[in-house]
Amino acid sequence: MIQRTFSIIKPDAVKSGNTGAILAEIEKGGFKIVSIRKQSISKKEAEGFYAVHAAKGFFDSLTTFMSSGPLVLMVLEKDNAIADLRKLMGATNPANAEEGTIRKKFAESLEHNAIHGSDAPETAAFEIGYWFAGYELI
Ligand code: CMP
Repeated sequence: MIQRTFSIIKPDAVKSGNTGAILAEIEKGGFKIVSIRKQSISKKEAEGFYAVHAAKGFFDSLTTFMSSGPLVLMVLEKDNAIADLRKLMGATNPANAEEGTIRKKFAESLEHNAIHGSDAPETAAFEIGYWFAGYELI
């Protein structure tokens, strides 16, 4: 089933010059880039996006990091996009990520882990709608 997911190339990967290499991995993985935008986000915007993690000890550090520099927001499409992107990304902690995955290649740490991808259809719907308007997704 053709499905959409939401992804972010995080500030660590943009800063280290890996945006193009990560986009190449995504395209090689068979994803169509439906919409893409490089921008900086505010701490408040990061807090709204990660609201589900508000009670976690790492929330302040995570949202400070995500608002520390430019990132790349994307909507991606392919058959089984949500699960397939998470497979391509590798484990959240790069220390546990499989060889060949984006996080194994480009992530620095659990927080500076290069890329985000939605974890379920409901999350993807929220995350796509949080950053993109309908007219950007035609
Ligand atoms: P992401 O997929 O963007 O979703 C939430 C993020 O929180 C996650 O990637 C990690 O970068 C970060 N994260 C998860 N667990 C921890 C943790 N224990 N300490 C710091 N950051 C974390």
